[in-house]
Amino acid sequence: MRTDNFPLPSRRAFAGLLTAGAGLAALTACTPENATPSPAAATVPVQADVTPSAAASSTAAAPTTEPTPTAEPTVATPSPTPSSSLKTQQSLTDPTSPWVIVNKHRPLNPQNFVPADLVQPAVRLAVSGEAALLNSTTAAAAEKMFGAAASEGVIMTLASGYRSYTTQVSTYNGYVASTGQAAADRASARPGHSEHQTGWAFDIGDGGGACSFQPCFAEQPAAVWAKANAHKYGFVVRYPWMFHETTGYFYESWHLRYIGVEGGGGGGAPGPAPTRDKIEGV
Ligand code: DAL
Ligand code: ZN
Repeated sequence: MRTDNFPLPSRRAFAGLLTAGAGLAALTACTPENATPSPAAATVPVQADVTPSAAASSTAAAPTTEPTPTAEPTVATPSPTPSSSLKTQQSLTDPTSPWVIVNKHRPLNPQNFVPADLVQPAVRLAVSGEAALLNSTTAAAAEKMFGAAASEGVIMTLASGYRSYTTQVSTYNGYVASTGQAAADRASARPGHSEHQTGWAFDIGDGGGACSFQPCFAEQPAAVWAKANAHKYGFVVRYPWMFHETTGYFYESWHLRYIGVEGGGGGGAPGPAPTRDKIEGV
């Protein structure tokens, strides 16, 4: 019997669980040793989520110093208690699950995972190539969310979507080269540890192009709208303000992660993608 599934808690409970790095004692130390983020994101001049201009070689091997889980942790019952009316189970480890938990201590499995259903959403793009791709469920939800924002006069762009393992090697190494490893670890996931590789996450930009990947993006219309409305379309702002000691990352007002909407309906967004019969071993 697999231990990576549990009765579906509410979407709100899972969002909290996700932010808390699964809320598990085994996963609490999300900040790498010797990396102590300063409390104010505003003190960080640039928190880019893409390859810095001083991108380093992409040939370096993935760092091996980050601790990785040796066994699936015991999953504590989330609070509030999961609703008995919700029968679906979602995997926390299968990268095709909208509830997969990927963080500093939980790499993708396999680490070179590539979503099988990458598509380019019909939204305003600030990037091209693989960065303009999302998995099909996330793409559909993004189209609805971008459309809703536009209907309220807020233009957002897709600023960074899918990233392959290889691209994340370049991204992370670029940060290390330009800011040092400690700072890099507060802004960029290590290869195999990024939600971008799952296809479930993407970064938004503002239609005006201001403050991309910078702390001041939080005040731009796209970020303000997303913070207030993204949940209606199945998204959470994954690395919230002042949660850096838990998530290991500074506030990223641009990074949205799809987890589905409560009950799989409402808000015009599709619900969690996989059904039990699609989750291996369930
Ligand atoms: N900036 C986020 C944490 C990433 O690299 O996935
Ligand atoms: Zn991101």
